[in-house]
Amino acid sequence: MKGWGRSKIAIETVQSTAKSQRVAAHSHIKGLGLADDGTPEPVAAGLVGQLAAREAAGVIVELIKVKKMAGRALLLAGAPGTGKTALAMAIAAELGTKVPFAPLVASEVYSAEVKPTEILMESFRRAIGLRIKESKEVYEGEVMELTPQETENPLGGYGKTISHVVIGLKTTKGSKQLKLDPSIYEAMQKENIAVGDVIYIEASSGSVKRVGRSDRFSTDHDLETEEYVPLPKGNVHKKKEIVQDVTLHDLDLANAKPQGGQDIMSMVGQMIKPKKTEITEKLRGEINKVVNQYIDQGVAELVPGVLFIDEVHMLDIECFTFLNRALESTLAPIVIFATNRGVTPVRGTNVAAPHGIPVDLLDRLMIIPTLPYGKDDVAQILAVRARVEGLSFADDAIDKLADIGVSTSLRYAVQLLTPSSILAGINGHETVDMDDIEETNDLFVDAKTSGRTLAASEDGYLQ
Ligand SMILES: Nc1ncnc2c1ncn2[C@@H]1O[C@H](COP(=O)(O)OP(=O)(O)OP(=O)(O)O)[C@@H](O)[C@H]1O
Ligand SMILES: [Mg+2]
Repeated sequence: MKGWGRSKIAIETVQSTAKSQRVAAHSHIKGLGLADDGTPEPVAAGLVGQLAAREAAGVIVELIKVKKMAGRALLLAGAPGTGKTALAMAIAAELGTKVPFAPLVASEVYSAEVKPTEILMESFRRAIGLRIKESKEVYEGEVMELTPQETENPLGGYGKTISHVVIGLKTTKGSKQLKLDPSIYEAMQKENIAVGDVIYIEASSGSVKRVGRSDRFSTDHDLETEEYVPLPKGNVHKKKEIVQDVTLHDLDLANAKPQGGQDIMSMVGQMIKPKKTEITEKLRGEINKVVNQYIDQGVAELVPGVLFIDEVHMLDIECFTFLNRALESTLAPIVIFATNRGVTPVRGTNVAAPHGIPVDLLDRLMIIPTLPYGKDDVAQILAVRARVEGLSFADDAIDKLADIGVSTSLRYAVQLLTPSSILAGINGHETVDMDDIEETNDLFVDAKTSGRTLAASEDGYLQ
């Protein structure tokens, strides 16, 4: 194991920068709920009704999967509470984890430190995936032995330091003992690697990946989160095809950091020097160049994902101009917009346009309208939501709540679910009944009622 010098091993696994989903309002949505022929089931995967829009969304998902949608844009347009954001989440769920989905609420682009177009650019690059296949020299096997070797501290201080670590790896074909640099031992500790795990170590970079636990240890319990993998085949030392899914933004970040981050793609790391500390236009240009080379060489494959911009009417004319241009670049994702606005001025101008979107951009969009729900749909959605939240409602209570939902808004009705169950608890019963709903509805007001009250009693408020 010569040549495993310390200097080579500034390794850090790239952290995925995908945003975790914070919006619990849509946690009941698991997909579009389409049958195999693409037609929507009335109630499936947490979605209710809105059939035409779901079918259209299904077509879009297919287009995205066959990569026919890149650089195109879609608009979900409809009244508040008609399920636009819900549909976008369903599209994300259908695409799975291998296709990047970058959600952004338009108002997030306004910050004191960063230009709006910079945030848009970053979001664009979060939405473009790259699947890199590299054939790498690795040592792979089940860990049979993991022994750090200590020596006296060479600097003469107290205590001991680790001089190297001895690892025994086993495959179906044989086993091998490796003597490795202490920095690899640190990397292994970070990944919580223990005897009995299946791992591989990249020979060139020294980075360590845990594949899973050897299936010798698997038990019959289904509850375990551990992934069990079979003993690797072939020799311990071999060439292995390694597939890595990253986004362009991951690459930007890894290469913008002053040190480390070589692991994503050792080659990109080497080609772009010197290391910069900030993501600049120039850095992005260089990354694009390398990425394009990789694609040409067949080493990497582009996976255009989805950039979802909710409340798109909050963007101003500068952002729209940027979007127009960005959609034309060769590395563009699919962009999905959503808005509940009708004809309204484009922000930053006094020109009114449909949905507050400039007509030149609007012209490129495919529009999926979402329609207001009838009472039956509202009742179904409330029932689904109640089930997800683990609440129990009497049928007439759901019916009553659906009436409230139709006359006020779906969202208001959804929001009454939890408070009414708390009231039911106070009133001493487990299942929420009609009286609980009425009582809750008396305690709170919806937006429309509040507006009417304000209009009627203007004098009582400060202007
Ligand atoms: N068809 C549906 N099936 C199940 N749940 C739905 C459906 N439509 C909407 N919902 C749920 O109702 C609530 C409101 O819907 P959502 O937030 O998607 O509306 P929206 O169209 O994005 O409204 P806004 O224009 O105000 O943003 C959410 O909790 C959503 O998950
Ligand atoms: Mg919404």
